[in-house]
Amino acid sequence: MVAPIRHLLITGANRGIGLGLVRLYLRAGWQVTAACRSPERAASLLQLAQDYPLEVVELDVKCHGAIAQLAKDIQSPVNVLINNAGIYGPDNVSFGHTDADLWQELFAVNVIAAQKMAEAFLPHLTAAKGAIIANMSSKMGSIADNSSGGGYLYRSSKAALNAVVKSQAIDLQHANIASIALHPGWVQTDMGGPNALIAVEESAQGLKQVLDGYHADMNGRFFDYQGQPLPW
Ligand SMILES: NC(=O)c1ccc[n+]([C@@H]2O[C@H](COP(=O)([O-])OP(=O)(O)OC[C@H]3O[C@@H](n4cnc5c(N)ncnc54)[C@H](OP(=O)(O)O)[C@@H]3O)[C@@H](O)[C@H]2O)c1
Repeated sequence: MVAPIRHLLITGANRGIGLGLVRLYLRAGWQVTAACRSPERAASLLQLAQDYPLEVVELDVKCHGAIAQLAKDIQSPVNVLINNAGIYGPDNVSFGHTDADLWQELFAVNVIAAQKMAEAFLPHLTAAKGAIIANMSSKMGSIADNSSGGGYLYRSSKAALNAVVKSQAIDLQHANIASIALHPGWVQTDMGGPNALIAVEESAQGLKQVLDGYHADMNGRFFDYQGQPLPW
């Protein structure tokens, strides 16, 4: 029997970890909807779309109207939603140097957008029967792991995302939808920088393996790209 085609929807898919995940899922035979802010400039995605079942769609995750419209436009069930789009803000925001406008921007992209995506795509996730919402968090959002301080904007946004994951996991269980938080490692992307420890491919492969091996005990929890559980 031929396995049904599975559908990934991912945000911030034009570069970095998002693009790495798109490549892997396409190679694994998935149908992928890759959302990014400027499809016309997403050369790597447009190239992939020539060879694979990839739809490239425009989405700034801060725009809730656009999220709602995308949910109307997409007809098929979504097996995996990866809320990957994220921003870091200025480096090492230290005590006394927090910019409130920027802080709100980080919350808009890193936290609120993930919840709005889950809310808008609830029918698609429900229809997939056993869908997973994978939220790209960061070890920097772990309160237990914070031994160096600072990073007020980014740390607090990812900690808030983790709180969202926990509530989603409880609230959506009845619809057979799971929600987990993922730490991709310190990855060589524009955000991670050139000194980061691992390449995009290694992170993406690990993250996909974690999602492929998903089981019910993982719902509402926080894992790194090697499948190691992380403390909140
Ligand atoms: N790299 C690391 O070491 C690391 C570690 C821990 C967690 N993470 C998390 O992993 C995720 C991906 O990180 P990355 O390293 O791949 O970052 P990246 O290379 O900086 O890429 C970020 C992606 O997010 C998109 N994005 C930003 N704001 C957006 C918005 N308003 N609407 C839609 N898309 C938006 C960017 O789109 P544009 O191209 O349009 O800007 C880009 O596609 C993030 O959530 C990040 O916090 C990364």
